[in-house]
Amino acid sequence: MGRHDFQIELNIKHRVCFTRDAFAVSNRLLAGILEEGGGRRVLVLVEERVAAAWQGLAARVEAYFADLGFDWRGLEVVPGGEAVKQDEQLVKRIWRMIDREHVDRHSYLIAIGGGAFLDAVGFAAATAHRGVRLVRFPTTTLAQDDSGVGVKCAINAFCKKNWVGAFAVPFAVINDFSFLHTQTEGTRRVGLIEAVKVALVKDGSFFDWIYQNLERLEKLDEPVLEECVERSALAHARHIAEGGDPFETGSSRPLDFGHWAAHKLEQLSDYSLGHGDAVAIGVALDSLYSARCGLLRQLDAERVIDVIVGLHLPLWHEALDLRDETGRRLVHQGREEFREHLGGELTILLLRELGRGQDVHHLDEGLVDACLDDLRRRHGLVRRVGPVGG
Ligand SMILES: NC(=O)c1ccc[n+]([C@@H]2O[C@H](COP(=O)([O-])OP(=O)(O)OC[C@H]3O[C@@H](n4cnc5c(N)ncnc54)[C@H](O)[C@@H]3O)[C@@H](O)[C@H]2O)c1
Ligand SMILES: [Zn+2]
Repeated sequence: MGRHDFQIELNIKHRVCFTRDAFAVSNRLLAGILEEGGGRRVLVLVEERVAAAWQGLAARVEAYFADLGFDWRGLEVVPGGEAVKQDEQLVKRIWRMIDREHVDRHSYLIAIGGGAFLDAVGFAAATAHRGVRLVRFPTTTLAQDDSGVGVKCAINAFCKKNWVGAFAVPFAVINDFSFLHTQTEGTRRVGLIEAVKVALVKDGSFFDWIYQNLERLEKLDEPVLEECVERSALAHARHIAEGGDPFETGSSRPLDFGHWAAHKLEQLSDYSLGHGDAVAIGVALDSLYSARCGLLRQLDAERVIDVIVGLHLPLWHEALDLRDETGRRLVHQGREEFREHLGGELTILLLRELGRGQDVHHLDEGLVDACLDDLRRRHGLVRRVGPVGG
């Protein structure tokens, strides 16, 4: 009889690595990591577009594991992109593969692909046998500088982003910069917004660095892009590991700065607008709002806009003007959905300074509308005169 409270302390290593050409037989990074875990069985999943862009990849991966004497269960090519998050088909297909190849909790599932693919594979891995070891190889800028180093995974449901998912720390994340080469220019560029976001909420000197290197970033100059990806990935991982709430039990979620509007906008656009583009708009909106409500200096909000425009990222999408029968913009629903997703009180991070945020629990809808009108006007200007850059 009676109540007994036990404290369960979790101590989990989050391995985040940066390399080039990870499957060269001479590159022992991955082998060393897998040996740490002791398991020998390996199943590899590669996203279709990545496999198409890297014709020799399957043979290289197989040769790598053959050389190390692992229990090789094969390489499967599966689809990716946001479409695979829209239903459970891919998740179920991966469950079947895990079952068929007898991938157990000591085996390794290695996933090579973009953020959406990694989310779907991650959810399958987190739920099969209540969690098999996943080694992520993110292949887009966004997946390397943000989503791939995170500790969660999800697919969409009930017309809502990331409604069904899990928190699951991957066994390791290997950011192999070589993969970044074959993205389209747009995908390579748009992922930089998550670096801008994390800089804005966690690290003012990183934002200054981005601002100073804007011209080279705009040209997607390789060393600067890679440095930006690495700094961003480490800032995300550091926040997760050291921020005190890795599994988001509280209501505050600084890494989701600008995301309340972004997630709603993705859905309102029927996912024709990608995550990164939506985040650029969301970050612009919440930066302008931070200034309008008196938290942030207008000059600093302008610097954020300069960076977004300078990187050729959008400030506006027509779905922002979709309205209900009362004339209310539909995007406003994003705040309530965001609150429900997090649980508890609505908590939105705004900016006090570039590099420092502040949680608020209410946004004034009229002020948000004024910021949206401002963004539409700025978008019109950019289209007329082209990006200015800072
Ligand atoms: N789990 C998390 O913590 C978290 C965090 C942020 C974002 N996300 C999710 O990440 C997703 C966005 O990820 P993304 O920006 O990587 O987009 P994406 O996965 O849709 O990839 C973009 C496009 O690039 C292709 N691609 C990927 N890598 C390639 C390569 N190396 N060469 C050629 N083509 C390649 C893909 O097939 C796709 O068409 C969203 O669904 C978002 O919700 C998840
Ligand atoms: Zn994001």
